[in-house]
Amino acid sequence: MLSAASRPYIDASVPVLREHGLAITRHFYASMFEAHPELRNLFNMGNQASGAQQQSLASAVFAYAANIDNAAALTPVLERIVHKHVSVGITPAHYPIVGRHLLGAIKDVLGDAATPELIAAWDEAYWLLAGELIAAEARLSEKSRAPLGTLRELIVTDVDRETEHVVSYYLRTPEGGSPGEFLPGQYVSVCVTLPDGLQQRRQYSLSDAPEAPHWRITVKREDAGDAKPAGQVSNWLHANVKAGDRLRVGPAYGEFTLPQHDTRALVLLSAGVGITPMVSMVAALAAQGSRREILFAHAGRNGSHVALRRQLAFAKTQLPHLRVATFFETPLPIEREGVDYTFAGRMDLSRLTLPADADYLMCGPSPFMQTQWRALRDAGVPAERMHREVFGPDALDHLL
Ligand SMILES: Cc1cc2nc3c(=O)[nH]c(=O)nc-3n(C[C@H](O)[C@H](O)[C@H](O)COP(=O)(O)OP(=O)(O)OC[C@H]3O[C@@H](n4cnc5c(N)ncnc54)[C@H](O)[C@@H]3O)c2cc1C
Ligand code: HEM
Repeated sequence: MLSAASRPYIDASVPVLREHGLAITRHFYASMFEAHPELRNLFNMGNQASGAQQQSLASAVFAYAANIDNAAALTPVLERIVHKHVSVGITPAHYPIVGRHLLGAIKDVLGDAATPELIAAWDEAYWLLAGELIAAEARLSEKSRAPLGTLRELIVTDVDRETEHVVSYYLRTPEGGSPGEFLPGQYVSVCVTLPDGLQQRRQYSLSDAPEAPHWRITVKREDAGDAKPAGQVSNWLHANVKAGDRLRVGPAYGEFTLPQHDTRALVLLSAGVGITPMVSMVAALAAQGSRREILFAHAGRNGSHVALRRQLAFAKTQLPHLRVATFFETPLPIEREGVDYTFAGRMDLSRLTLPADADYLMCGPSPFMQTQWRALRDAGVPAERMHREVFGPDALDHLL
C-alpha cells in the first residue's frame, strides 16, 4: 500500500500527468534507448515511431495514479500488461532500468515542479506497481512452464493466401506435432531479424482451434499509407516466409479468451483482420459440439477482404445456434445485400437482434471498438460482460 506521506503527491500528480504524461513517456523512451540500445530489440519500434506505445504507457501510469484506491478498475489493465510482458520476455532485471529512466524523465519534464518529495512518492509508487507486475509475471510464466522470453523454432508447414493482403501460416514442431495447448483468443509472439539486423517481435492471434494438429497465424500485410511507412514485420513475413521455413515463436499468452461460462450466449464482433481470434473461438466451439447461442458479426470492406471465410462457413455447418452477420462498407458490384452479405455500411448494432444476456467480445481497429463499446454501454450491457482485444498497445481510451 502506498504510504500516507506519498499519497498526497500521487493524488496531486493526476492533473499533471494528464497534461504532461505523453511528454514524460516520450522523453523516457528516448533516454532509455540511448543508454540501452539493446532494448530496441525487445520493443516494437513501429509502435515507438507511431507513438502508440508512449501513449499506452502514459495512459497506464495515469490510470494507476487516478485509481490508486480502486485496484479492481486496474485489474484488467494489469492483466493485459502482464501477458504482453511475459510474451515478449520481460524479466525482473529490466525493471530498475525502466524505473531509473521513467523517474529521470519525470524530473526533466516537470523541472522545478518535480520536488524531491514528489520524486520520492513516484519512486515508491513505481516500485509498488513494478512489484505487482513482477510477481504476476512470475506466476504466469510458471503456469505456462516456459522460462521468460523462450522462443522455439517451428516449421511453417503451409502458407495459405486468404485475401490480397492476408496470408495464413501453419506451424508445427520439427517432430510434426501441434506446438501445444492454448485458449482460443490467445496470441503468440513471432520474432524475426530484419535486414538491418534489428530483431523485432510481433504478436499474432492463433486463428485455428486448439484441437487442430497445428498452430495457425493469419497476418495482414500493412501497406504504406499517406504519412506512414509499410509495416516492417508483416511485410517481411509476406515477402520471405514459405512452406518448409522455420519461424521463432513464443508460447501462447493473452487474457482475451472465451468466457468460461458455458451456457451464456456469445456475441463476437470483429472488423478487418480482427476476425482472427474470433474464428479460433468458433472453430473451438465447433470442435466441442457447443450448443451455445452465438452471434458472429463481422465488418469489412467487401467479400474479397474477409479472411478465414472457409473456416467460418465450416463452423456454421457444425454449430446449430451460430448466426453470422456481415457488414460490407464497399460491396463489390456482384455482391447482393441479404445474399452475399447481410448489411451495407459500417457495423451498426441496432440492426442486429442481440441476445438478452450475453458475453460480448470485440476485436478490430480502435475507432471500431470505441463505437461498439459505447453502443453496448449505452444499451445497458455491464462492463464486465464486454471484452476487447487491441492489435497494438492499448490506448486505454475506454477507461480515461
Ligand atoms: C494481441 C495482438 C494480436 C494480434 N493479432 C494479429 C493477427 O492475428 N493478425 C495480424 O495481421 N496482426 C495482428 N496483430 C498486429 C501485429 O502484431 C502487428 O502489429 C502488425 O502485423 C503490424 O506489424 P508491422 O511490423 O508490419 O508494422 P510496424 O512496422 O510495427 O508498423 C505498425 C504501424 O505503425 C505505422 N508506423 C510505423 N512507423 C511510423 C511512423 N514513423 N509514423 C507513423 N506511423 C508509423 C505503420 O505504418 C503501421 O501502420 C496483433 C497484435 C496484438 C498486440
Ligand atoms: C511499472 C512498470 C511498467 C508499466 C506500468 C508498463 C506498462 C506497459 C504497457 C501499458 C504496455 C502496453 C500493453 C498493451 O499492449 O496494451 C507495455 C508493454 C510493453 N512493456 Fe511495459 N511496463 C512496465 C515495465 C516494463 C519493463 C521493465 C520493460 C522492459 C524493458 C517493459 C517492456 C515492455 C515491452 C517490450 C512491451 C511491448 C511493447 C511493444 O509492443 O513495444 N515494460 N508495458
